[in-house]
Amino acid sequence: MEKSSSVNLFGKNVVALENFSAEEIRLVLNTARKMKQIIRRGGEKKLPNLRGKAIVNLFYEPSTRTRTSFELAGKYLGADVVSINSGTSSIVKGESLRDTLRTIEAMGVDAIVMRHKAEGAADFATQVVKPVIINAGDGAHAHPSQALLDLFTIEQHKGHLEGLKVAILGDILHSRVARSDIQGMRKMGMEVHLAGPKTLLPRFLFQEPGIFVHERIEEAMEAADVINVLRIQLERQKAGLFPSMREYARVFGVNEKRLSLAKKDVLVLHPGPMNKGLEIAPDVAYGDHSAIQEQVQNGVAIRMAILTLILTGGRKDAVD
Ligand code: NCD
Repeated sequence: MEKSSSVNLFGKNVVALENFSAEEIRLVLNTARKMKQIIRRGGEKKLPNLRGKAIVNLFYEPSTRTRTSFELAGKYLGADVVSINSGTSSIVKGESLRDTLRTIEAMGVDAIVMRHKAEGAADFATQVVKPVIINAGDGAHAHPSQALLDLFTIEQHKGHLEGLKVAILGDILHSRVARSDIQGMRKMGMEVHLAGPKTLLPRFLFQEPGIFVHERIEEAMEAADVINVLRIQLERQKAGLFPSMREYARVFGVNEKRLSLAKKDVLVLHPGPMNKGLEIAPDVAYGDHSAIQEQVQNGVAIRMAILTLILTGGRKDAVD
């Protein structure tokens, strides 16, 4: 029997994992395990957990996985979910973020899932409206649900998290995934090794115990249990941060040869979307070690867990 948890996430904003304790992260992972069984058992997925709750997805930046999985997660749990796309809403008429949030609030929603290009946008939202805010990515700052699904995927494969060596590779500078991963992984007792071009790896940001910065990706990959390859954020790049795509793939691309430096049973992750042939070779992306496709399914389970826990407190009938 699992020990029942004394932590409760009811009403908690999900802005960054720095505001989460290891116990709270554990509760989300354990709840996601139950949610994944529901997704996988086939047949009827619609549960009554969130019946009567309304959720709005407010996305100011492109998204396939995160938006769709939040939408499906809410729907599988019986909530009413509406997705607003910045390109087709009054945002194009110049409505401010504050006014857009207040408009959504006035319609009686319980949670707003938001993605915005500005760091701090989700935190700002928690200050101007009452519904629970879930950060689905704010600039290069944080993407907590992605980090939770990464932890969940790792635990499903390795059986535990503590003591594992993880290498996070590539465009650390622009990556909200890297920042949230690092916070979550450290809280769960994992060792984090970072590597990428010097211009994409601000060393001074990571002078903390348990975080190791390398210049060569080979050093970071050595004996790693998990490798998380980041997308080069071409849309956030200022010119000249690395010489050329070809050069990047040659020096920093994760290919089969480099993968053999890691542990034999290494797990390969990528948050998607991938630039195949740039940061990751296709044979690694689709190879035996890859859990990239599984991350997507786990993303739905994690978001079902988050929504249930923050909107119902994880009442027994809601998660069992
Ligand atoms: C990430 C994002 O948007 O932050 N993607 C995702 O949510 N699956 C990573 C990325 O875009 O590189």
